[in-house]
Amino acid sequence: MAKTNSFTCSSCGASFSKWSGRCEACGDWNTIVQEVPLSAGPASKSLGAKRGSAVRLTDLSTEETPPPRTLSGVTELDRVLGGGLVPASALLVGGDPGIGKSTLLLQAAARFARNGLKTVYVSGEEASAQVRMRAQRLGLADAPVKLAAETNLRDILTTLEAEKPELAIIDSIQTMWADNVDSAPGSVSQVRAAAHELTTFAKRRNVSVILVGHVTKEGQIAGPRVVEHMVDTVLYFEGERGHQFRILRAVKNRFGPADEIGVFEMTGRGLAEVTNPSALFLSERGQPTPGSAVFAGIEGTRPVLVELQALVAPSPHSQPRRTVVGWDGGRLAMILAVLEARCGIPFAGLDVYLNVAGGMKISEPAADLAVAAALLSAREDTALPADTVVFGEISLSGALRPAPQTENRLKEAQKLGFTAAIAPAGGKSGTVSGLALTRATDLTGFVGEVFGAG
Ligand code: TYD
Ligand code: MG
Repeated sequence: MAKTNSFTCSSCGASFSKWSGRCEACGDWNTIVQEVPLSAGPASKSLGAKRGSAVRLTDLSTEETPPPRTLSGVTELDRVLGGGLVPASALLVGGDPGIGKSTLLLQAAARFARNGLKTVYVSGEEASAQVRMRAQRLGLADAPVKLAAETNLRDILTTLEAEKPELAIIDSIQTMWADNVDSAPGSVSQVRAAAHELTTFAKRRNVSVILVGHVTKEGQIAGPRVVEHMVDTVLYFEGERGHQFRILRAVKNRFGPADEIGVFEMTGRGLAEVTNPSALFLSERGQPTPGSAVFAGIEGTRPVLVELQALVAPSPHSQPRRTVVGWDGGRLAMILAVLEARCGIPFAGLDVYLNVAGGMKISEPAADLAVAAALLSAREDTALPADTVVFGEISLSGALRPAPQTENRLKEAQKLGFTAAIAPAGGKSGTVSGLALTRATDLTGFVGEVFGAG
């Protein structure tokens, strides 16, 4: 009988068809273990021979009441959660070390606890005294949060079982140690085992569990990536080190919209909510300068205006530089190619730098046109009108595609004092009083509109 057994490296998670002493993927020794699939090998015989019990099936029309939710009172967090915390849900909050995850979760724990949710905060990274000191500095010392500094998963689960909290925060999953798994804390198998134990505990005992996970810039080490499919909700806490802004982004949410963001500012007294992110992102904008364009974007359910900055300069290199911060490098290359092929505007021999101001990251295709505007403005050394926002997707043919939620974008622009907008023609027309809307059908038309005959 053909064997379909697979072998997995317990350190990096790579799988192989045969055993070897050293993992070819990560180079670790003695980490490859055999994983017998349930449906193959000797196990399938016993599965077939012994009948399981029938699973009850239901139909899709069964009435379901939406889960009751608990609000933290931190509007930015509640919105990212999809309208508050769902009971018995498992969440993962990932982010670079030092970005502010512990601060965010301690503040959230305090708010939830004050709202009557029985909350336990387990720190595997800091001593209880350190967490208490931080709480005092944040003015949260009186919040009824129960605290523990522990890494032994068995002890933690026993404690939670006895304590019966409604919310347990585990900071961080990388420090947890399951004694039934034979590898070091932080390795993929430990992280996976600990996350599995904690998420099943959440469902079984009706406890919401929030796991903190560190990721490096490269997304490597035993990152929480393996954990992402085990949990209901994955939030990423991101930001640039030099900036005060922190963005909490839902990348997966079984109980609400993904792509929703919450904006915070790191202050001396912890994280403060930013209720008007557009104003914040545009606050550093001075006089109109060449290379600057304002993009009217949508993040989740909310419009957000951000400034795109481009710099174009003759390159001393044979291969000119293309550097992007906060946007997709492949997409930038595409826009440069379209500008060259469809509008006859070459960027060969020029270094191109693109930056999204304020440490924001954007992924919307609707940013294309604003990127093109910033690039052209930098190349022509001509500032765009200061009171104009730009949005729209560019296709490879040079045609412009309308962006969703045109009206919301325009309203936000008008709210922040902009008086003009340039957007693709077609799609739902949204007009907002006090805002002159120019519509372009293709990139050549847009270039002509903004920079004269191009
Ligand atoms: P922390 O929450 O410990 O980060 P993480 O858990 O993601 O590793 O936050 C660390 C940084 O936040 C630290 O460099 C100091 C800064 N910070 C403030 O600026 N203000 C504050 O009130 C607090 C608590 C932290
Ligand atoms: Mg921390």
